[in-house]
Amino acid sequence: MAQHDAGLEREIANCFRRIGDSGWFPDEVGAESRQLALVFETLKPGPGMRILDAGCARGRFLRRLETSGARLFGVDLTEVFLHSAHANVQGAAFAGGSLSSLPFADGAFDAVYCIETLEHLPDTETALAEMARVLRPGGPLLVIDKSMMGLHPRSAMPNAVWKPWMERRGRWMYPVEFGFREKWFWPRELARMMERHFDDVSIRFQTEGFGKATRLYRALPFLAFEAAWSGKRRL
Ligand SMILES: C[S@@+](CC[C@H](N)C(=O)[O-])C[C@H]1O[C@@H](n2cnc3c(N)ncnc32)[C@H](O)[C@@H]1O
Repeated sequence: MAQHDAGLEREIANCFRRIGDSGWFPDEVGAESRQLALVFETLKPGPGMRILDAGCARGRFLRRLETSGARLFGVDLTEVFLHSAHANVQGAAFAGGSLSSLPFADGAFDAVYCIETLEHLPDTETALAEMARVLRPGGPLLVIDKSMMGLHPRSAMPNAVWKPWMERRGRWMYPVEFGFREKWFWPRELARMMERHFDDVSIRFQTEGFGKATRLYRALPFLAFEAAWSGKRRL
């Protein structure tokens, strides 16, 4: 496995720590959330299932899974989020650590999801390999992130133009001179990376919940701002 850059990952976590109180990382997610619906549809949580939220922040999705009876786990590299997560989701277990080197045994989980977190990993391949490692064979992985192929819902600019433009203007959580840029994925490219470890890899575009842009996304789903990738850990 490639050697990940633990120092850079720590600096990235420090960027999250600095904006931790900005209001961007709530304790809760609405019951109507499309992302939450995808977690339920893809993972089918049930009693006794071992489920990992990879990059859990304050555990807002885990909190919604509590009623399923599943055994819930969260991992994140930003300590301040984990302190809140413990209080927010008392029935879950949390660990500090990176997706590049998950502090869990092989096959420890029946299902894993990773929402808006893979885009913050410098080494995508290592993180995918780690999520595959901790999944039991046949277990599902769900990744939700921005799609580089999409149109930005407010500016109507292609994401591939809007994102670098905003970054150059310093309108991003990472400073202009920072040694890492958030990664928005070309859907097929990420699917191909997943296919190294997962079977039945599919891409779904997130068309709902984007205000006026929703109608456009419904008509032309490949232009949606966000996408969801799922697959089953190879047997
Ligand atoms: C945009 S937030 C999304 C959090 C959560 N999934 C949600 O939707 O509420 C990204 C999360 O990734 C975490 N993170 C960043 N780098 C990480 C790494 N190398 N390993 C684990 N978590 C990381 C951050 O601390 C942050 O909680």
